[in-house]
Amino acid sequence: MADYIYTMEIRLTPDQQRGVALVQDIARAAGMNIYLTGGAVRDIISGFSIRDLDFTVQGNPLKLQKELERAGAVISSADEDFKTVYLRLPGSVRAEISMARTEQYEKAGKPPSISPATIIEDLRRRDFTFNAMALSLNPGSRGLLMDPFNGAADIEAKLIRVLHNYAFVEDPSRLIRASRFAARFHWPLEERTQARFTSAVENKYMEYITNRAIGYEIEQLAYEDDPLHILRVLEKEDWLKVLNPRWTTAKVDAAGLGQLLKTRQQMNELGYSPDPAPAVLYFLTARLGEKDIADMRKLIPRKDLVEAWRDLEQNAKSLAKRLTSKEAATPSRTWKLLSEARPEMILFLAVTARQQAVVQKIRNFFTKWRQLQQKIPLPEMTELRITPQLPEYPKIAQDVFMLLLDGKLRSRTEILRFLKPLAPPPPPPPPPPPAKRGRAAKAAAVAVLPAAAAPLTGKKKGKGVVAPATPPPAKAGAKVEPPKPPASPRPAKQKEKKVIRAAPKKVKGKKRR
Ligand code: CTP
Repeated sequence: MADYIYTMEIRLTPDQQRGVALVQDIARAAGMNIYLTGGAVRDIISGFSIRDLDFTVQGNPLKLQKELERAGAVISSADEDFKTVYLRLPGSVRAEISMARTEQYEKAGKPPSISPATIIEDLRRRDFTFNAMALSLNPGSRGLLMDPFNGAADIEAKLIRVLHNYAFVEDPSRLIRASRFAARFHWPLEERTQARFTSAVENKYMEYITNRAIGYEIEQLAYEDDPLHILRVLEKEDWLKVLNPRWTTAKVDAAGLGQLLKTRQQMNELGYSPDPAPAVLYFLTARLGEKDIADMRKLIPRKDLVEAWRDLEQNAKSLAKRLTSKEAATPSRTWKLLSEARPEMILFLAVTARQQAVVQKIRNFFTKWRQLQQKIPLPEMTELRITPQLPEYPKIAQDVFMLLLDGKLRSRTEILRFLKPLAPPPPPPPPPPPAKRGRAAKAAAVAVLPAAAAPLTGKKKGKGVVAPATPPPAKAGAKVEPPKPPASPRPAKQKEKKVIRAAPKKVKGKKRR
């Protein structure tokens, strides 16, 4: 059996790994079997980036909510009917925990009735073979891949294949999903799946799509890497108007969306990971009427996404206001303000701000000001023993940076003048070299005497061994023992070596006499 746990661990981000461990431990503690399922397993195996974590538990995940929150997860919403919890794990990891279930479709256009099931039964109710795999997270079988429809082979063949003949009849949103996955992966529908797809279109199955499925599909668009490309494909297939009758690609602010994704990329490179989903929805629906947008919002399952999308403009306005107020009167204050702002808000404002002052401040925050950090003289700070081991180091480094930002420290000399009084006291002098045994060593020690900087005050111990002088006690009040200065010890060492090498000659000379 392939070691899928290893594959999982190398493919997940550190935050996602921690998220898997967190959910797995909570489910286990509650006595529920837990599996990683759906798109997460597909993306682990196929090598595509893992966008979210889908978990399936044998039991009711709604019961895990309190524990999840206690462990730092944020519950986005909970679906009582489908026993599904939508959540954000620490590090902004998007996740979904569903109850393993069977679905019975009784009437077209009505949601299925569901019953608790085993994981294998659950995999049978899914859409495509590549989404019908589960990776066990349970002790004893951790890493075991359950793949009853040979999804791994379809991933290998790059094919989209439905599980059974009724897949599109039972859930017409799978037609949208088939088009979306085909557009994202650039994989074709397998021949029979294509035939079922065409027949579903001819028979207008889409008329029976449920509102729940529409909301789910709108939400999924927010997380696509290239949402405009997906929207174009959905429009071509006539699916976009299913999501909203007036939605077309003409309603998209394509320039704004492009700018958003570019800025997000730049922020990622600087180590920020803003969630672009609310802003993506904002630009995708930029030219739609308020009523249409309100209708779409009502259907989206993740309520925190809806709120973030709804409040985007207002929050950006208040950030812009703060950026033009006294609070951001100096570069250092602006830096602090932007460092504490949510990355999502900076991202959105960076793309939508019209005031030159705001645009300029955000630009400086990402470029010019950041480069000033390189002016902090790290080697000189080390020489002054101002190193990261010092508890006050972060504050000192921050103060220097703030003064640099405000132009209050300009040259290297000015920076050093500021730093010198902050340097901790020097370390105690190094102990003298260890004494050698024997007569030669004794002679060597004697020879060293006049040249050594510190007088040896120790008593003789035993045969010819000179006890080193005790180093002076550390200065009272010195909290940390400062590390050795990097530059000064070297010359002293050389000096010592020289003297010791010279000593045996003298001894020899003495002997000869
Ligand atoms: N699913 C399904 N039928 C649907 C919606 C979802 O069978 N109409 C199942 C699939 O197994 C899917 C899983 O639920 O993999 C999770 O759904 P979702 O998060 O929408 O899809 P992902 O496959 O995770 O894809 P994405 O990469 O878009 O998140």
